[in-house]
Parts: sequence; structure tokens; C-alpha cells
Amino acid sequence: MGLLASATTPFLPQDFATLVNPLWARDLRARVVSVIPEAAGAATLVLKPARWGGHVPGQYVGIGVEIEGVIHWRTYSLTDPDRVSITVKALGLVSSHLVTLRPGDVVRLRSPEGDFTWADRGPALFLTAGSGITPAMGMLRAFRGRVPDITHVHVAPSRDEVIFGSELRAVGHRFVEWHDDTDGMLTLDRLDDLVPDWRTRETWACGPAGLLAAIENHWGTSNLDHKLHVERFTPPALGGGSEGTVTFVRGGAQKHTDQTLLTAGEDAGVLMPSGCRMGICFGCVIPLLSGQVRDVRTGAVHGEPGDLVQTCISTPAGDCSLDV
Ligand code: FES
Repeated sequence: MGLLASATTPFLPQDFATLVNPLWARDLRARVVSVIPEAAGAATLVLKPARWGGHVPGQYVGIGVEIEGVIHWRTYSLTDPDRVSITVKALGLVSSHLVTLRPGDVVRLRSPEGDFTWADRGPALFLTAGSGITPAMGMLRAFRGRVPDITHVHVAPSRDEVIFGSELRAVGHRFVEWHDDTDGMLTLDRLDDLVPDWRTRETWACGPAGLLAAIENHWGTSNLDHKLHVERFTPPALGGGSEGTVTFVRGGAQKHTDQTLLTAGEDAGVLMPSGCRMGICFGCVIPLLSGQVRDVRTGAVHGEPGDLVQTCISTPAGDCSLDV
């Protein structure tokens, strides 16, 4: 610890610096540069981080915002290969807050993560729906005017509700729009008509959980799951959830919930560590002190005192307590 830091203990110089410029905080922060309205109640936020080591198109980033005194984290795909931008649809607590931000506002930021990326650029199929377009947009923009060998099927309620619609129609790749308000729900038995060579293409899929489950099943029964890449915004959940009262021991809070331990803790005002919120990064693990939890991906109930549990993919299986 340096001389200045010693003199300010228990605070660090950065803590005082934060009062002058919030971007100098010890955790990574970014200033909102612009907020660009998109279709269907969505908006693109262009961010300028205090520091940034770059990212790969298709990756996502954690964004933290303070709402009524509680820091809430969510993950969003990066939609531009050259700058930090996310596109958010105003659904849910954090996304609805993000679309109200203005240039100059400051958000918390995590480093980019994820392997939903396209390294070899061979013939591809993009299957996207709704805001599942966002990681695909990041990859498409990386072609910088060249026409990629991509067949892209995108589902939206109507033509007007296609996020990035005019830009997507100008890329020049084979872009198939499915508007379920007029075309009905897309079922995968239509795929042979829409994309006759889909079996030969490496496929990237992002969209609602139900569509992704159907895609995984279709590719699996076709023995093509090795050619499928899926990006989720939430972990796959099984039916028949569990519930219980969760005690956050150090935070001095309790919450009866059937939601994940992470969501319950945040709702109770507890400072919960988190990252991807999808069971990938292990940024949310906390020691279990008592009780058991249920893994929402597998349905398995598990837990011994002292076990580390991933709070983003675990619901309480009866009453339990956590060391947080
Ligand atoms: S937040 Fe990444 S595994 Fe839970």
C-alpha cells in the first residue's frame, strides 16, 4: 500500500477520487455516451469505459446499475465489434431502467465473456428471435461491408418490430424474416423449406428459452448437435420449481422465494456477487450454511453445509441459509 493509501486507510485514494470522477472507482465503470432508440421499445446504449481490453463479436458483458439503493447486474450482448454498445429492450427491472439513462450517466461494467463467437467464418445459419438478434448483430457488423455466407432466419412479431431491421436488410446476406403476428408461430418442420441446406451449416441460435429448447431438440435428433451454438440470456429452467425461505446471514435478511438465490438476495437488498447469471462464470458462488438447493438446469437437489453453490442457477429446496 502506498503512502497516500496508508494515510487514507481504511479508504483508498480511489474512494475519494470517485467523488470527483465516478469513472476512477476501483471497480470498472463506464459513462453513457449516447442512447439511440431502436424498434419495439429497445434502445442502444453506447458506453465509454474507464478502461477496456477489447472483445470478440458475439460476447456479452455484465452491466450493473443502482436502483433504489441496490446494485442489480444483468448481462447483455455486445452489438458492435469496435465499441462497447448494448441494445436493450425495456422489459424487466434493469432493462427498463437502462433505456431511461442519458448521456453522462455512469454504469458498472464487467469484462467481456462468452464463447458464442464465430472464429472460422465458414457457411453459417443464424437463427434468432426478438432481442436474440443482439449477439448476431455484433458478428454481422464485424464483416464491415463484405457479404458473409450466412443464411439468417429472424423471428419478430412484425416487420416494424425487427430490432436493427433496416440495417439487417442492407447487409446483403440471405435474410429471412418470420413475422409471427401474420405468419404464425415458427415451427422447425419449416426449416427444410426456409433453409434447404441447414444441415450443412454451422448454426448460431439465440432467442427465447422455448425456441432454443426446440432447436436443441431438433439438432439433437438430427445428430447435428456438434454444429449448434446456443446463447441464452437466462439458464434453462425445468418445470416444477422449488421454494423456501432463504436466510442471508451476514446481510441480516430473509426472503421466501421460488426464484433463484441470486435474485432473492438482490430483491432483499443483499450485496450479491454475480457475473453471467447463466451458470457459466462461477462469479456468484457462495457457501451454503444449511439446507439444500435445486439446480434449475438439471432439477437435482443438493447441498451440504460448506458447499459452494452457484446462486444464479439455484433455487431453495426448502429453507436454507447462505454465508453472505
Ligand atoms: S453468475 Fe455466472 S455462474 Fe452464476
